Amino acid sequence: MLSLEFPGARQLIDAIDAAVALPDPAATTESLRNALCRLIRNPEVQLPACVFEREDDHYARRELYRSERHGYSVVAMTWGPRQGTPVHDHAGQWCVEGVWQGTLEITPFELVETRDGRYRFEPRGTMNAGPGSAGSLIPPHEYHAIQNPSDDATAVSVHIYQRPLDACCKFQPSDGNWYTRDECQLALDETH
Ligand SMILES: [Fe+2]
Repeated sequence: MLSLEFPGARQLIDAIDAAVALPDPAATTESLRNALCRLIRNPEVQLPACVFEREDDHYARRELYRSERHGYSVVAMTWGPRQGTPVHDHAGQWCVEGVWQGTLEITPFELVETRDGRYRFEPRGTMNAGPGSAGSLIPPHEYHAIQNPSDDATAVSVHIYQRPLDACCKFQPSDGNWYTRDECQLALDETH
């Protein structure tokens, strides 16, 4: 189900359909990373204009496509200056994320201990990802934080989720590397 019409949508969907037919998450996500890197650089693929419009008070999530046949969901995210996420999980699903415009600062976290309802995470190195780069999360390695480090530029990324991600857990630092967990609903922003 295409939520938004845009040039090159069919190329994107065909590439994802081929990737999800592969036998395991490692193969699927590797294929998706390569496909996203290629598609981001392909001038025939033009994301819809609304994807480049930022929201003042939150990073925007706009669904581009949801596959009724395969169950995956494609969401474009728009990050205003300094907008970002806390550490969060992906509800046990794989995800591939590519930077379409601007730069995103991405920090993977490893869950190393759980005790008394608290969670100890260790960061695994922050990277700055620019246009045409893509990364993936495969459970149990599914924790990260994302931020647009720019003071003025908008960043846009495209996320392919194994299943629509309408809820996840966000983790707030409480003491050193210990975090508390909140279950959160994830909303989608309007498309036009
Ligand atoms: Fe994420």
